[in-house]
Amino acid sequence: MSRAVIIPPCRSLCGSPRLPGDKSISHRRALLSLCVADDVVLENFADGEDCAATLECIARLGKRVLREENRVTLSGVAGFSSGELDCENSGTTARLLAGILAARDGHWTLTGDASLSQRPMERVAVPLRSMGADVATTDGHFPLTITGRPLHGIEYESPVASAQVKSAVLLAALAAEGVTRYREPLRSRDHTERILNLAPGSHGWISLDPKRTRLNGLTLSASIPGDPSAAAFWIAAALLVPGSRLTLRNVLVNPVRAAYLRLLREAGARIEWSGEEIHDGEPVSDVRVEHSAFRAFQIAENDAPALLDELPVLAVLAAFAEGVSNFYGLGELRVKETDRLALITRGLARMGARTAATNDSLTIRGGNVLHGAEIETGGDHRIAMAFAVAALTANGNSVIENADCVGVSDPEFWNEGGRLLPDSVTLES
Ligand code: S3P
Repeated sequence: MSRAVIIPPCRSLCGSPRLPGDKSISHRRALLSLCVADDVVLENFADGEDCAATLECIARLGKRVLREENRVTLSGVAGFSSGELDCENSGTTARLLAGILAARDGHWTLTGDASLSQRPMERVAVPLRSMGADVATTDGHFPLTITGRPLHGIEYESPVASAQVKSAVLLAALAAEGVTRYREPLRSRDHTERILNLAPGSHGWISLDPKRTRLNGLTLSASIPGDPSAAAFWIAAALLVPGSRLTLRNVLVNPVRAAYLRLLREAGARIEWSGEEIHDGEPVSDVRVEHSAFRAFQIAENDAPALLDELPVLAVLAAFAEGVSNFYGLGELRVKETDRLALITRGLARMGARTAATNDSLTIRGGNVLHGAEIETGGDHRIAMAFAVAALTANGNSVIENADCVGVSDPEFWNEGGRLLPDSVTLES
């Protein structure tokens, strides 16, 4: 039985919250270790349950996995033994693993929890099948079965801007015969391309020639930067609570992941980052944020993929902004760990915010004084953390149900809250 958290309004947050290592990069570097014989050492590996599920699958496929605090060492040669692989709540584990396994010898069934079992899997099965893969979904969902087969390169224009689909195809392409070309309607996060030294060419086509992209020449070991999607909640909290000032250290500021920082800074929020350095192929910086007023913002359909995981907390921020914010292109929010658009609108309405949603858009009138409420999270980590932020400046206490779900991406979130806001967070069984 998961606990609830009671959050009273708080006075100010100061200091430097600890961030988990970036989840997307942790998954990718760990999964790619399946394809190499060299030891891979990952420092500051993401400590959430999603990445733990990836490590579990990697161990089942025959690698030795040694975890010492936040350092993970992956060694030995994967035997890819057939069987069931439990991806738990993690869409990234599921879809990237499908790409890696498609060309290997063996037969696997990928399973997951109730939430992952409802998420669409044909989006990854379709391009893999056209490469020659034997991938079967269960009415478009999990369980997913894969029987390894020789693959060939394809030219594929994806109908969705999804880094998971793109990565699955690129990972399969590494073991295919011939060149694969991939294009997406809007740019999604590009960590797989960065690790593999690929860049989009003319008209956004990414080209992977397995004869040129040789994994054995690549260094997969790395120190993983702080997760900007985890930082987003602390940044929002500092903006909203008077007297707050936070410094977030070593944050990933990859342009496809820093759209949140740029959007808020353009809306007048006091957020600074400078002195970007490239660490293991990704730009990293400290980020400073202070309590400040900010204007409403407009998120066009084209902006949504780069803000995907930050949309729940942006909706909370919009409720406090000056003016009316509009969000478009939110269709993908309906097929995340939960129907996030539904839970955001319900939660904000419960707290007294004025919102209007369609199937894929959301309008929020800012300047609301919110009141404490009982918030339904559906077990979705980003919904729980977004409403924890809203609760900090609401009138009266809020209760976040199913609060342990934050462990999917940031198991220390409530402890950090307790450290930065003494006596403000109570966990109830
Ligand atoms: C991720 C891609 C995004 C994102 C998810 C992580 C990744 O999902 O929402 O949290 O690591 O590739 P989609 O690929 O479904 O858009």
